[in-house]
Amino acid sequence: MYTRPSAVLLFGALAAAAPAPVPQESFVPGTDSQISASVQPATTGYREQVYVSGYTSATFHGEYTGTPTTVGAANAPATLAASIPALPPNPTATYYNSQGVPLNPMPAPYMPAGGLGTNGTLPRYMVESDFDFESIALGLYQEWIELDLFHDGLARFTDEEFTEAGLGPEARSLIEFMADQETGHSTLLTNMLGERAPAQCYYNYPYTTVREWVDFMQRVTRFGESGVWGFINHLDSREVGQLLAQSIATEARQQMIFRQMTGLTPMNVHFENGWPQSWAWTMLAPYISYCPQNETRLAWQNFPTLRILNNPNVNRYSPNDTAQDGSEQVGPRIVDPSVSNLTEGSCQNLNVTGYGCDPAIAHNKSEPLTFPGRKVLFEWEAPGQAVGPNNSYVTATTAGAPKFVGWSQQLNLTYTPLTVTGNNTGYSYQPLGYVYGDNGIINGTMAVMLTDLDLYVTPFNTSMLNPHIVALGLYMAG
Ligand SMILES: *[C@@H]1O[C@H](CO)[C@@H](O)[C@H](O)[C@H]1NC(C)=O
Ligand SMILES: *[C@@H]1O[C@H](CO)[C@@H](O)[C@H](O)[C@H]1NC(C)=O
Ligand SMILES: *[C@@H]1O[C@H](CO)[C@@H](O)[C@H](O)[C@H]1NC(C)=O
Ligand SMILES: *[C@@H]1O[C@H](CO)[C@@H](O)[C@H](O)[C@H]1NC(C)=O
Ligand SMILES: *[C@@H]1O[C@H](CO)[C@@H](O)[C@H](O)[C@H]1NC(C)=O
Ligand SMILES: *[C@@H]1O[C@H](CO)[C@@H](O)[C@H](O)[C@H]1NC(C)=O
Ligand SMILES: *[C@@H]1O[C@H](CO)[C@@H](O)[C@H](O)[C@H]1NC(C)=O
Ligand SMILES: *[C@@H]1O[C@H](CO)[C@@H](O)[C@H](O)[C@H]1NC(C)=O
Ligand SMILES: *[C@@H]1O[C@H](CO)[C@@H](O)[C@H](O)[C@H]1NC(C)=O
Ligand SMILES: *[C@@H]1O[C@H](CO)[C@@H](O)[C@H](O)[C@H]1NC(C)=O
Ligand SMILES: *[C@@H]1O[C@H](CO)[C@@H](O)[C@H](O)[C@H]1NC(C)=O
Repeated sequence: MYTRPSAVLLFGALAAAAPAPVPQESFVPGTDSQISASVQPATTGYREQVYVSGYTSATFHGEYTGTPTTVGAANAPATLAASIPALPPNPTATYYNSQGVPLNPMPAPYMPAGGLGTNGTLPRYMVESDFDFESIALGLYQEWIELDLFHDGLARFTDEEFTEAGLGPEARSLIEFMADQETGHSTLLTNMLGERAPAQCYYNYPYTTVREWVDFMQRVTRFGESGVWGFINHLDSREVGQLLAQSIATEARQQMIFRQMTGLTPMNVHFENGWPQSWAWTMLAPYISYCPQNETRLAWQNFPTLRILNNPNVNRYSPNDTAQDGSEQVGPRIVDPSVSNLTEGSCQNLNVTGYGCDPAIAHNKSEPLTFPGRKVLFEWEAPGQAVGPNNSYVTATTAGAPKFVGWSQQLNLTYTPLTVTGNNTGYSYQPLGYVYGDNGIINGTMAVMLTDLDLYVTPFNTSMLNPHIVALGLYMAG
């Protein structure tokens, strides 16, 4: 009788037979050997390659109770204007090809003219400007929290709690692998920054159940992913953009998998949008308790919190039954997950197509999370609140009184009028709108904001809206 060899034996045998790789000059972002051709290390302080490995979960999680020694965002020697003025198109942005064939001489065979970093210059895998440094430093703050967050739930919850949430041993192994991906990402970003790369911090998480943890992770990876799409094509260093794209491609997969584990439709948009850095930092900072002494600070803005009082509870089979007073989010922070321990109306352990929300590759929603025309209730904080590591950042806005709600998703940023009902409360209605054809704009885990102006912005100039944002929130559309 044929006996199937065990997986261990099979792969053990294959591994033994595998050829060793041919040694090559190693590829090491940000080290002396990599950049020595163009820069003198002695004057720029490059350091040894750093590796992050073997992380599980921090020994401390919770609120920061001390007094900060430094306050405010990182500042430059000078700030030159209150906002960036709009300009006409770049005079060189004129290429148009009506013939469908190359119009210019080719620099080499099969090599059409143009492109950046295509003329043979030696790649330099390091940040090239303050914009690059602050953007990648933000990305590293993000990778650091994910490294701790993904491990934390695995360490915090029991096998029984995971099984009860529909996540068996194989699903847990997948999360473990995603946690380990973060060691690679943290290593890469640290080395593209150099010696002042931010270190890992300590965090203060909102969840108490497996489902809340997974829901929180699908929100955190949303702003992690969109926060990078928002700046990646604005980076001065194309080399850094290349490596960052290779890490954010896995972040995007993580976001989708966490949606699946939350029992949500894995993806319900045609386009994942990009957000300015300050939006991602606003959402991330409240979950950082404190950072080590001398931590490199960020220059980005922390907007005041916009709470969506009837943000749909992802654990309900009729999400429109979500309470109207904010009580179905586990706490007051922007991306806090939905309350999972509902006494009635839960979609967990409900094996009914269109209503159940146990982990699955795909789920239909017979009753949507939200819909066009839905009244959405808002409450927002005044600026001047202490947030982030050591409570050492301060929320701020340069906008006037709120007049509009901005809905940022897909290729669009659309506005609806805000009806103000109190000093810091109001409502609006979810808009109806399409990207192309019948693809509705408002769907998925997305950013919403109050603004003082319905400024027209498009995916490459979204940050021009920042001076007009009063408060920022995260909406669970679907
Ligand atoms: C090569 O291209 C870069 C832009 O990618 C440009 O800055 C540089 O001047 C070019 N070098 C040469 C020798 O043309
Ligand atoms: C933040 O708090 C930690 C822990 O108390 C402390 O070690 C660190 O120096 C503080 N950093 C700042 C900037 O206050
Ligand atoms: C803080 O960082 C600066 C700049 O790298 C360095 O000169 C200083 O010695 C550091 N201070 C401490 C206490 O680590
Ligand atoms: C959704 O809930 C709101 C508030 O309870 C209610 O006014 C509205 O009729 C509901 N809409 C639908 C389509 O169920
Ligand atoms: C749900 O969990 C929260 C936090 O653990 C607790 O405060 C609340 O009482 C629980 N609600 C129910 C209905 O069990
Ligand atoms: C769900 O229901 C279907 C159809 O009744 C059944 O085939 C399937 O085994 C059920 N799944 C679970 C996990 O109970
Ligand atoms: C799921 O939803 C799609 C689109 O609304 C529909 O075409 C399909 O029949 C649904 N599938 C099931 C199994 O309900
Ligand atoms: C709005 O703020 C003013 C001044 O602080 C206060 O007098 C008033 O009662 C507030 N109104 C509401 C509806 O909260
Ligand atoms: C959304 O953006 C697309 C692409 O620019 C555009 O075609 C469409 O008209 C926009 N939709 C709305 C409602 O503005
Ligand atoms: C959101 O996406 C789901 C799944 O693709 C779809 O069924 C639903 O109609 C979409 N909602 C809107 C408002 O477009
Ligand atoms: C953003 O870009 C669009 C073109 O894509 C332009 O019409 C709009 O005026 C720009 N917005 C600002 C604030 O410059």
